[in-house]
Amino acid sequence: MSFLRALGSTGLEVSALGLGTVKLGRNQGVKYPSGFELPDDASATALLELAADVGINLLDTAPAYGSSEERLGKLLRKRERWVLGSKCGEEFENGHSRFDFSAAHTRFSVERSLRRLRTDWLDFVLIHSDGNDLDILERSDCVATLLRLKEEGLVRAVGMSTKTDAGGCAAARLLDVVMLTWNREQRDEEALRTARELGKGVLVKKGLMSGHVQDSGENSLRGSMARVLHEPGVSSMIVGTINPAHLEANVTLARDILAGG
Ligand SMILES: NC(=O)c1ccc[n+]([C@@H]2O[C@H](COP(=O)([O-])OP(=O)(O)OC[C@H]3O[C@@H](n4cnc5c(N)ncnc54)[C@H](OP(=O)(O)O)[C@@H]3O)[C@@H](O)[C@H]2O)c1
Repeated sequence: MSFLRALGSTGLEVSALGLGTVKLGRNQGVKYPSGFELPDDASATALLELAADVGINLLDTAPAYGSSEERLGKLLRKRERWVLGSKCGEEFENGHSRFDFSAAHTRFSVERSLRRLRTDWLDFVLIHSDGNDLDILERSDCVATLLRLKEEGLVRAVGMSTKTDAGGCAAARLLDVVMLTWNREQRDEEALRTARELGKGVLVKKGLMSGHVQDSGENSLRGSMARVLHEPGVSSMIVGTINPAHLEANVTLARDILAGG
């Protein structure tokens, strides 16, 4: 299996491993196994250059990831080589999340992401769910606003990072991309099946249980990664790391898994 794969029918090609960038911008209110300092600019730049060198082209960020968007805007070179995605709907301020899926906030958020990321377009924007996936999809103006932003050319593809299997199904029907959970505790099977059948893009989050992997067996790093990458319909597994050795090892492992190892 190839390392570069179609993101559904969006026309975008993404690496089988994407880089999640929570840890570039936020170290409060996160569920990682241990605390950490945000990497300085030199380390973050080296991490991004390493990611490019080993074949990663997909970066996932969000307004709720602290300074992640601003730092990427400042540090990223060669914008056109990246598939750059952000989110809308969640704001993280003073240690707390608040959510706003209104039309006005959706437009404000996407335009702010463009400014922060210093780019004229976003490859994808995902609705950052608060857990009420169906409510957001059916009762807010967020979907309609994102579709308008897509028509205006500010965004190439739109989707949702969902919290529930039913929400993932609905998002796959309405939008281009769904970001769903696939790990030892939660597998959004209906959502993945629906997205696959409709030819929609699938990004997997928390595939490594936010770093809570075991030394061996099916919940090891290899087992967790294989569980995701062997699943037909998955476009890319988004793994968050700020450790260059982990980044390199993850790509080697993913390539080996995809080659049938
Ligand atoms: N939209 C949403 O609601 C949502 C929610 C969660 C996540 N996400 C996205 O998905 C991305 C990934 O999720 P996540 O960060 O929660 O979880 P994850 O990718 O499952 O796990 C990340 C953790 O795994 C560790 N790790 C990575 N490679 C490793 C290796 N080779 N050996 C040991 N540990 C390793 C990282 O630590 P080191 O830094 O030490 O490598 C980090 O603490 C996020 O960055 C974000 O972009 C989105």
